[in-house]
Amino acid sequence: MSIMRSVLLAGAENAWLRERAMRTPFVRRSVSRFMPGETMEDALEASRRLITEQGTGTILTHLGENLSSLAEAAAVTAHYLELLDRVHREQLNVQVSVKLTQLGLDHGNEDCFRNLALLVDRADAVGNMIWIDMESTKYVDPTLALFRRIRERSARTGVCLQSYLKRTAADLEALLPMAPAIRLVKGAYREPPELAFAQKADVDENYFRLASRFFDRGIPPGTFLGIGTHDAALVDRLRAVAASKVQTPARHEFEMLYGIQRPLQTRLVRNGVPLRVLISYGEFWFPWYMRRLAERPANVLFVAKSLLAR
Ligand code: FDA
Repeated sequence: MSIMRSVLLAGAENAWLRERAMRTPFVRRSVSRFMPGETMEDALEASRRLITEQGTGTILTHLGENLSSLAEAAAVTAHYLELLDRVHREQLNVQVSVKLTQLGLDHGNEDCFRNLALLVDRADAVGNMIWIDMESTKYVDPTLALFRRIRERSARTGVCLQSYLKRTAADLEALLPMAPAIRLVKGAYREPPELAFAQKADVDENYFRLASRFFDRGIPPGTFLGIGTHDAALVDRLRAVAASKVQTPARHEFEMLYGIQRPLQTRLVRNGVPLRVLISYGEFWFPWYMRRLAERPANVLFVAKSLLAR
């Protein structure tokens, strides 16, 4: 892991820095590049624009993680229920993605499951879909266990897997018989080399191997792959794999974050490739923003430029 990435990811966990950065106007300005606003309405408005202007569906996620009480988890759940209802009323092509720590995972699996079940039941009722984000490694086992339980209740749910983790190939093989919906990403947290590939090339190659698995024969019908990456080389390689199969076993779509690699997003849409854009919104954006900076050193330069432009 590069020193810059390490420093930024350590900063993401620093409360002192978070308090100050979130009040600093130039930081708030540079965040707007990746986030259309802090409210549900801002995220819905950005979704309407993407849907009408380029026909791209979205996934919305309300920022926040590691809550201090179950009352907060209940409030997050209520927020997402309202979002599902809004999307249904407006008939928007908008899905929802949640972090289990926001639904109370740190306070016990059962409370978290109850909140998750409320969301998945509502998604079932209104024909929507709940994605479960993957957080740092200590949450992988409980997240996969809760995903398995909720998947038995409804197929309208999917989970994220991270290609930087050495365990993910085994996790994927264990999940495949359920015909799951999986969003594959590289991984955004600070993980030790015993658990995660340290070299970017290894993370990328593992991504390709894992994603290619969905195009093998024998994949159960109904399996779905969300290819969550902005890596143009990987996108092209995976499009070639998908095109080379006479019969594509798993349905798939590409998924990218709002504001990142816009030219690549436009190119895919122009070529008729299915794409969905994940939009994050909310007041608690600092750790998420630091992870976005860590993904690309040039972003730090961008922040520095906006500081000079004050
Ligand atoms: P990579 O980092 O190699 O980037 C490829 C190219 O994309 C870069 O060269 C650059 O041009 C561009 N790029 C990438 N990130 C950028 C940025 N922040 N700013 C500007 N340009 C950038 N992670 C996780 O651990 N758990 C999760 O649940 C999710 N969920 C999720 C959903 C979706 C839809 C996406 C797209 C991503 C996630 N992630 C995630 C984040 C993911 O793990 C990863 O950190 C980022 O997607 C960056 O990795 P890439 O695959 O884009 O490749």
